[in-house]
Amino acid sequence: MSVTVFNPRINNDAAVAKTTAAAPAVTALKEPSSAQSPVHSTPPKKVFVTTQGCQMNVYDSGKMLDVLGDSHGMEVTHDIDEADVLLMNTCSIREKAQEKVFSELGRWRKLKEKRPDLVIGVGGCVASQEGDNIQKRAPYVDMVFGPQTLHRLPELYDQSNEQRDVSPKNRIGTIDVSFPSIEKFDFLPEPRVEGYKAFVSIMEGCSKYCSFCVVPYTRGEELSRPLDDVLAEIDSLAAQGIREINLLGQNVNGYRGEKDDGSVCRFAELLHYVSHVDGVERIRYTTSHPLEFTDDIIDAYAQLPELVSHLHLPVQSGSNAILAAMKRNHTIDVYINQINKLKAIRPDIHLSSDFIIGFPGETDEHFQETLNLAKALNFDHSYSFIYSKRPGTPAAELPDDVSFTTKKARLAEFQKVIIDSTLAKTHEMIGTTTRVLVEQIANRHPDCLIGTADNTRTVMFPYDEEQMNELLGKIVSVRVTDFVSPHMVKGELIEVLA
Ligand code: SAH
Ligand code: F3S
Repeated sequence: MSVTVFNPRINNDAAVAKTTAAAPAVTALKEPSSAQSPVHSTPPKKVFVTTQGCQMNVYDSGKMLDVLGDSHGMEVTHDIDEADVLLMNTCSIREKAQEKVFSELGRWRKLKEKRPDLVIGVGGCVASQEGDNIQKRAPYVDMVFGPQTLHRLPELYDQSNEQRDVSPKNRIGTIDVSFPSIEKFDFLPEPRVEGYKAFVSIMEGCSKYCSFCVVPYTRGEELSRPLDDVLAEIDSLAAQGIREINLLGQNVNGYRGEKDDGSVCRFAELLHYVSHVDGVERIRYTTSHPLEFTDDIIDAYAQLPELVSHLHLPVQSGSNAILAAMKRNHTIDVYINQINKLKAIRPDIHLSSDFIIGFPGETDEHFQETLNLAKALNFDHSYSFIYSKRPGTPAAELPDDVSFTTKKARLAEFQKVIIDSTLAKTHEMIGTTTRVLVEQIANRHPDCLIGTADNTRTVMFPYDEEQMNELLGKIVSVRVTDFVSPHMVKGELIEVLA
């Protein structure tokens, strides 16, 4: 494998240094720092958040806690009974997730009956889709905000406190599910650092409009964060000890971030920039689309050892007819060709994917093609879901003559193939050495440290106590000796790599 000679930051250090210096000091969940914040003589309020759905939502929930910590000095609690503010970050990707919102809110209503001061907020994609319908169905909800307006939570909170006695339909400023461009990032405090891995959102929304998917309607069209903003966040995370960066977005390889000089930075170039941040030893990204999985991204795997040997590339179906009906705009040949090119560069690449089973019009033959693709590509793991009709999406209008019983049977058959290949891949690790980012002492085995391998398997290995501090946060090489579970292996430490 060739080693990188391309250093895009060589002529750009001044610009990056400037943005780094301008980054705010670490403020998350500490004493209030913004001008609007009162000085608290009473104990800090406690906030509890539940998160449904994708990694973007996990990231957004962290940001919600950050903004309330920064503006109101609120502290996080994992105990709902001691919380003053309850936040629900919702997902509407499938019907089941959406149904859960109102059943969970029903439980929160009972808590509020006992503790009328409780403030309840609903955010995320269901909030974005339903807007003021949320308060029509659940009038005890105090604030409603979307994925793009979570930075306005402090104002929504103040407004809802001021208007506690006003009926929900007459309240002003307690609902905001707009898409105010990408301004959210300008208002977020410095990220909190826990452990050695961090997500960094590089873009919001999606403009692919796959016919089954609600994301473009709930999160809006694709908008990329400017390059310097992304790099400033990563610089600061790395300075706080983060070793692995996971670049986050619904369609990360559609990244088109503005550079200082007004030109556009595409995803492959961003990967080069990130790999040159001091301290960043590993780069992952979630999620990409085959349509924009271009050769320059594949070439980056030859040039950047920091890119992990794992790719999550959703394909959704193994049938060209279904892919066309899904408006994925590529064929299976294109997908296989991309994987083969990548394997030529990185023979040890691990693959995972997303599949939708039982899309309207899926025949037995189409399903067979999906099974065949999964068997041929031997995925390390994959996510598979029964198609869920989403109101407002084009696929919701398609006739669907596949019975739910057939869909369930197909999903079970499909998942068996996926589970078998996951198990086989984990067993194949035995006897090999694998790169592991060491993260912590194993909860149930305090004589072992655990970390994550490139292929996302958890790896545990025994250590000497005096070694511990020099191992935590390091990339090490481990020889795998035992199978523990489908996603976990045990091994022995060989050496510290970085
Ligand atoms: N941006 C990603 C996917 C985001 S949604 C991409 O490029 O594909 C995460 C996964 O949820 C999708 O990959 C898809 O497999 C699944 N999904 C989305 N809409 C769905 C629906 N209506 N029914 C069932 N699964 C769905
Ligand atoms: Fe959804 Fe397709 Fe975008 S699955 S998130 S519309 S790439």
